[in-house]
Amino acid sequence: MTTKTIVFTTRKGGVGKTTLTYAVGEFLARELPEKYKVLCIDMDAQCSLSTSMIGDTNWLEADNKGQTIYQMFFDALKNTKVFDIKKAIITNASNLKTPNLHLLPSSIKLEDIKAQLTNIGKDDKFSAISPVGVLAKHLHKVKDDYDYILIDCPPDMGIPTLNALAVSDGFIIPTIPDHISTYGIPMVMTYIKEFSESLGKELKPYGLIFNKRRPCGLHSTVIEIQTKKSGNPPIFRTIVDERARLAESAAYDNAVTTIKNKYGGANETYDTLHKLAEEFVDKTKDEEVNNADKK
Ligand SMILES: Nc1ncnc2c1ncn2[C@@H]1O[C@H](COP(=O)(O)OP(=O)(O)O)[C@@H](O)[C@H]1O
Ligand SMILES: [Mg+2]
Repeated sequence: MTTKTIVFTTRKGGVGKTTLTYAVGEFLARELPEKYKVLCIDMDAQCSLSTSMIGDTNWLEADNKGQTIYQMFFDALKNTKVFDIKKAIITNASNLKTPNLHLLPSSIKLEDIKAQLTNIGKDDKFSAISPVGVLAKHLHKVKDDYDYILIDCPPDMGIPTLNALAVSDGFIIPTIPDHISTYGIPMVMTYIKEFSESLGKELKPYGLIFNKRRPCGLHSTVIEIQTKKSGNPPIFRTIVDERARLAESAAYDNAVTTIKNKYGGANETYDTLHKLAEEFVDKTKDEEVNNADKK
């Protein structure tokens, strides 16, 4: 299959971008029968995805060696050439050491240069690189090795998120089903549409995932309102409930050795995430369908 690159994005923090990027990646790579090859990319200076997927020690080692997206942006800014995407990608990610799950980590140092990223390419009159084209310049070297590339973003539309959108086929918006979390979704949709038009490409709204649902009236009401609302991406049928297991999955815990230990057994979060991954494959299939139509 051709590689599908998908961004998990929205302007709100705490809604599950990181948790769902990781869980969907892990289920695609080890629980679905196809055992897809998955690369997760952490574009957030908070590094939650990185530390969850490889643990503090491995992350620190990668950071010290300049094998993170911080170094990638730093090189673009200062015209150095330290970053090598092939060396930076960590294989066998997750505490379960999942062979098909790989990670390109982030660094907290990204925070220090975030404000300067708009200067990329400014001093070099022959440079073809733009601030939003840095990831693209490196990702093409490895892209074909993967079935899915999933990119976790910070809760804003800054340069790292725009780099992620620039290399993607489409996006997923995770949200908690409450008023505050869903409030900014139309703005995100408009922003992404305008940005993708400026690049001359189309970014597909693959889906809206409700996460951290609680059994309360507010959450059911918001789900109903958002499902009927025009302009939203397609709504995922699979809804992820608020479950302690999912919060715990963020810890890189070597004592947890099976996926059912990690996410809970039958009828718990494991089943939901399995369905979510299946629906994810289904909802992001469009290009293959379109190509088949064209033939
Ligand atoms: N379905 C869930 N049930 C319980 N806790 C969750 C769930 N999804 C996410 N969390 C927790 O909520 C917090 C925010 O999630 P996170 O994925 O970091 O959000 P974001 O990346 O959008 O900021 C984290 O502590 C995470 O472990
Ligand atoms: Mg996050």
